[in-house]
Amino acid sequence: MIITPSILTADFSRLGEVCDEAIAAGIDWIHLDVMDGNFVINKTVTFGPAVISSLRNHVGPDIKLDCHLMITNVSDTWKQFADAGVNLIIAHIEACDDFSKLINDMREYGVECGLVFNPDTPVDDVLPYLPDLDLILVMSVVPGKGGQSFMEEMALNKVKKLRSIIDEQIAAGGRKTLLMIDGGIKSHNIGLVNDAGVEVAVVGSGLINDKATIAENLVLLHSELDK
Ligand code: DX5
Ligand code: ZN
Repeated sequence: MIITPSILTADFSRLGEVCDEAIAAGIDWIHLDVMDGNFVINKTVTFGPAVISSLRNHVGPDIKLDCHLMITNVSDTWKQFADAGVNLIIAHIEACDDFSKLINDMREYGVECGLVFNPDTPVDDVLPYLPDLDLILVMSVVPGKGGQSFMEEMALNKVKKLRSIIDEQIAAGGRKTLLMIDGGIKSHNIGLVNDAGVEVAVVGSGLINDKATIAENLVLLHSELDK
């Protein structure tokens, strides 16, 4: 399983150093949570393309960057994030009227395309897009902030259904759509989501916190996966 840190709980004056610390610990994929002050219910604003472009220059070309766009007008703004240097853009289905067009546009532009859906959005809503997606992201908290509790039953049900459909898709020669989870993942539940078939886990407060270093937290997460 790939573990990717969400830098939402980091000290924003030290974002470059936090990324360095994660990379030194063995991380090669970083998850960037973009909020526009409108999409999430607590109206949070985080950071945008300028900060992401600086981070790209800081980490160099070999680190994978994804951006989780918690923004309302995703069709109008996603190109700015591609131009800022992310490899993969993950857009909310709730913020897009024509997701098929979005996928086509992103593919033409040469950026990977992911779809994310909220806890109260049924898994059936995303199924039509699965064959064309590089990644599908199951939100296991209501998006808006780090440090919330994992919504276990809802999230695992969605993961299991998606896992079996993606496996069928791959067996039929289709795309290997990656299955990602985001929200509330810690050492006590990472084994559960791994067993359910998640391939990429976003970990925010479980990796970046005051209790231990990123490297120490990563060792703890991997030790649970090895059990
Ligand atoms: C929530 C974000 C998540 C979150 C993860 O809106 O999309 O990426 O910050 O943080 P934890 O792991 O603390 O839930
Ligand atoms: Zn996220």
